[in-house]
Amino acid sequence: MARTIDGLNAKDQELELKLRPIKFSDFAGQPKVLERLELAVEAARQRGDVLDHVLLSGPPGLGKTTLAFILAQEMGSNIRVTSGPVIDKAGDLAGLLTSLERGDILFIDEIHRMQKTVEEYLYSAMEDFVLDIMIDQGPNARSVRLEIPPFTLVGATTRRGLISAPLRSRFGLNNRLDYYDTATLVTIVKRSSRILNVDIDDSGADEIARRARGTPRIANNLLRRVRDYAQVRADNFINREVADKALEMLEIDKHGLDDMDKRILETIIHKFSGGPVGLSNIAVSVGEESDTIEEVYEPYLIQEGYMARTPKGRVVTPLCYRRFGLKPVGGDATPQAELELELDRC
Ligand SMILES: Nc1ncnc2c1ncn2[C@@H]1O[C@H](COP(=O)(O)OP(=O)(O)OP(=O)(O)O)[C@@H](O)[C@H]1O
Ligand SMILES: [Mg+2]
Repeated sequence: MARTIDGLNAKDQELELKLRPIKFSDFAGQPKVLERLELAVEAARQRGDVLDHVLLSGPPGLGKTTLAFILAQEMGSNIRVTSGPVIDKAGDLAGLLTSLERGDILFIDEIHRMQKTVEEYLYSAMEDFVLDIMIDQGPNARSVRLEIPPFTLVGATTRRGLISAPLRSRFGLNNRLDYYDTATLVTIVKRSSRILNVDIDDSGADEIARRARGTPRIANNLLRRVRDYAQVRADNFINREVADKALEMLEIDKHGLDDMDKRILETIIHKFSGGPVGLSNIAVSVGEESDTIEEVYEPYLIQEGYMARTPKGRVVTPLCYRRFGLKPVGGDATPQAELELELDRC
C-alpha cells in the first residue's frame, strides 16, 4: 500500500487530513508552544517580516505536521513539504530553495535524517539566505553563490537529540511537544466526532481519551473504531459503555498501553529481573529497532511512570509491577525514590 511521508496508508491519511486543525484556534493543548508561535506569527505579520525558523520535536502523532501547516495558514504563506531522507544531494536542496518565494515555508519532516553534507549547505541558507554551491570538478571547480528569497524553515523531528548543535542553533523557535492530558484529548475527540458526524457524550469521549496513549492521532483512530462499533451495535451513539465494549473487543488496554508497550515492560520484568538492562538487549528480545523503542515507546512509558532510564540501563518501577498484578521486587518503599535520584544524575 502506498505510504505517505507520515508513514500512513492512504485511507488513514484521508482521515487525518479531514480531522487536522487548520488554525491556531482549532489546535488543542500545548499552551506554551502555541503561545510562543502565535506571538511570533503576530509580530512577524505586524512588521511585514518573514517568520523565524521553527523546529518542532516530539513523539509521533502529537501535531508537528499539523502545526507546520497552521503556521503557513496563519502567515498566509505557501508551504513546500519534503523530508530529510528525500533530499540526498546539495543539488536537490538548491532546487527546492531557489523555487521558493519570499515568506514561503519549507517544511522538512524527519529533519534528523538529512545527510550531513546537505545539512551543511542549509546553514548559510538559513542564516544569510544564500547557497554556496560547488560546480564542476578538478581544475575547473568553482563555487557559485545563489541568492535565495527569505523563507521560513520548519523542521520536524522525533529525535531532537540527533539534530546537530549548529543546525539546532539556527532555529529561532525551538519547540518540544509533550503528550496530551486526558482533558485535552477529550476536547480533540469531541471536535473529531462533530466533523465525523458521530454522536458521543462526555463519558464516551473520556473513555477514548484515557486509552489514547496521550496522542491525538491515536485518539482519532480509536474514535473511528468505536464509531464502527456504535453504528452496527449501538444505534450510532457513543457513551462510556459503548466505547469500553468496542475497545475491549479490539484489545485496547485500559491504560492506553499497546502491544509493544506491554512486551517491553514484560520483557524487562521477566527476562531481566526488572532491570537494569541495556536498550539493545530489550530491542533484540522484543524484535524491534532500538531507535524505535527509544523514540516511540519509551517516552510514554517513562512519562506514565512505568519505567526509567538510569546510568546502568532501563528499569521498571513498582507501579509497573502493580500494573501487571505483580508484587514489586524489594517492596514499594525505596525503588521509586532511588529511581528519581538516579534520573537526576542522568
Ligand atoms: N493539538 C491538536 N488538536 C487537534 N488535533 C490534533 C492535534 N494534534 C494532532 N492532532 C491530530 O492528530 C493527527 C496527527 O498529527 P500530526 O500528523 O501533526 O502528528 P506528527 O507530530 O506530525 O506525527 P509524525 O511524527 O508521525 O509525523 C492530525 O491529523 C490531527 O488530526
Ligand atoms: Mg508528521
